[in-house]
Amino acid sequence: MTLTTYNQIAVPSFMYGTAWKKEATAKWVQLAVESGFAAIDTANQLIHYEEALVGEALQALARKSVKRESLFLQTKFTSADGQDHRTPYDRDADLTAQVNQSFASSLQHLHTDYLDSYVLHAPFSRRGLGAADWEVWAAMEALYQAGKAKMIGVSNITAAQLTALCQQAHVKPMMVQNRCFAVTAWDRQVREICRNHGIIYQGFSLLTANRDVLVEPEIHAIARREGVGPAQVIFRYAMQVGMLPLTGTTNPQHILEDLAAERITLSADEIQRIETIAL
Ligand SMILES: NC(=O)c1ccc[n+]([C@@H]2O[C@H](COP(=O)([O-])OP(=O)(O)OC[C@H]3O[C@@H](n4cnc5c(N)ncnc54)[C@H](OP(=O)(O)O)[C@@H]3O)[C@@H](O)[C@H]2O)c1
Repeated sequence: MTLTTYNQIAVPSFMYGTAWKKEATAKWVQLAVESGFAAIDTANQLIHYEEALVGEALQALARKSVKRESLFLQTKFTSADGQDHRTPYDRDADLTAQVNQSFASSLQHLHTDYLDSYVLHAPFSRRGLGAADWEVWAAMEALYQAGKAKMIGVSNITAAQLTALCQQAHVKPMMVQNRCFAVTAWDRQVREICRNHGIIYQGFSLLTANRDVLVEPEIHAIARREGVGPAQVIFRYAMQVGMLPLTGTTNPQHILEDLAAERITLSADEIQRIETIAL
């Protein structure tokens, strides 16, 4: 299954996230792809991600004839305040140069000459968008316009910031990646903006941000009816309401279970109940 952005690019409907896997990153990425994941999320930020080890997995997969074009690669530009001393660009350079250097380093890490999706890890401003956000976005727009990134996106963004970006950017984001909490009706406001603009909404930490939901008797009842586990119910809910979920599992059995979520269908009533389960 695929989703389509407003610029008509097909995107796999489930993504494997590579945060916090440290030196085991290559092993998990390889297993995830060999098990059926076609989309990989990473970031050029050594505090949480090992982008170069994602690249190592891609090289191993290429040796087994898995072609670059068959995979959807997404990585992020992380600002200097989200980096430690291993910042992958000159932190004294201007922001445009920082984006370009970080992007070039990502291409090197991932052994590719283009990215499917390039994401701003977070706006600089907590509220609204400031000059730094606009400078970085303009640099990302230039990468898109040069064909080096097939789509550009933004993560950890509020509804108000996303509205401003959609109104004022030359190129609207094609992707939004947010932590998705059931207590906000699963980020309903941001999802609605995405739907209205043809932007793909990626939900992360669907399980870890919603531990209370996973133990709800109603979720367990749905899981029993469908013959799956609670995690699969949440992932399938996400897909059926149009989200692109990320999973960060490091368990071979869970990799298969998460992928199997695509094969169940929740009823409209079940979807409606999950939508409001934490309100
Ligand atoms: N943009 C950002 O700022 C940002 C921030 C955080 C994360 N992310 C991205 O989102 C990805 C996913 O984040 P996440 O790790 O928080 O996601 P997650 O999938 O909500 O959480 C992973 C946890 O869920 C468990 N899990 C997964 N499938 C399961 C299953 N079938 N049954 C039981 N437990 C299951 C995993 O345990 P097991 O390992 O035991 O399966 C692990 O403890 C990250 O890797 C990263 O790529 C982005």
